[in-house]
Amino acid sequence: MPHVSNRVTLIDHPMVQHKLAIMRSVHTGTKQFRELVRELALFEGYEATRDFPLEDIDVETPICETVCKRIAGRKVAIIPILRAGLGMVDGMLELIPSARVGHLGMYRDEVTHEPHPYYAKFPADIDQRICLIVDPMLATGGSAVDAIQSLRAEGVRDIRLLVLVAAPEGIEAVLASDPDVRIFTCAIDEGLNEAAYIVPGLGDAGDRIFGTK
Ligand code: URA
Repeated sequence: MPHVSNRVTLIDHPMVQHKLAIMRSVHTGTKQFRELVRELALFEGYEATRDFPLEDIDVETPICETVCKRIAGRKVAIIPILRAGLGMVDGMLELIPSARVGHLGMYRDEVTHEPHPYYAKFPADIDQRICLIVDPMLATGGSAVDAIQSLRAEGVRDIRLLVLVAAPEGIEAVLASDPDVRIFTCAIDEGLNEAAYIVPGLGDAGDRIFGTK
């Protein structure tokens, strides 16, 4: 898996690239787009949890007793940034069914492109959990930086940001804002246009997931 830096992982698996190309197409409809967001979130979740420690467990197969591995009790919270992040939650929960889900509501000022938090609800023991922030698009990085700061204020130590498409500007902003956060992305695009949309990107992820305009 290419590590663009020691804190940025680019998931460029052929299946991921294939599915992302379908998502980028303006001709892909809401149903398929939503399904692909869920699938890519699941694939990305595999990579973002690759370093989870394992412990031995005794298992009796139909043939004999053996020793297998299981995840050694890491507690996870999935934190979607509303609204587009919701599209990644189901895929993540398929991978980690026991995860808790916190929510962070942020809207983007259409003029300044600044994020404005309007809602936050986290599990009570959030500071004991590995937090996987999910948001399909990392554009300016404003919402992600805000989300990371909110979680640090709650005492969270291990924060990982999972996006599907990232702009270099957003990656830089996130890495500069926090010394430890790690970023996982399926693509690093060219940059942002004047409206702070990612180029070539895939448009407004929230609108495409929910079929709004
Ligand atoms: N949010 C989106 O949904 N798309 C972009 O290109 C940038 C931010």
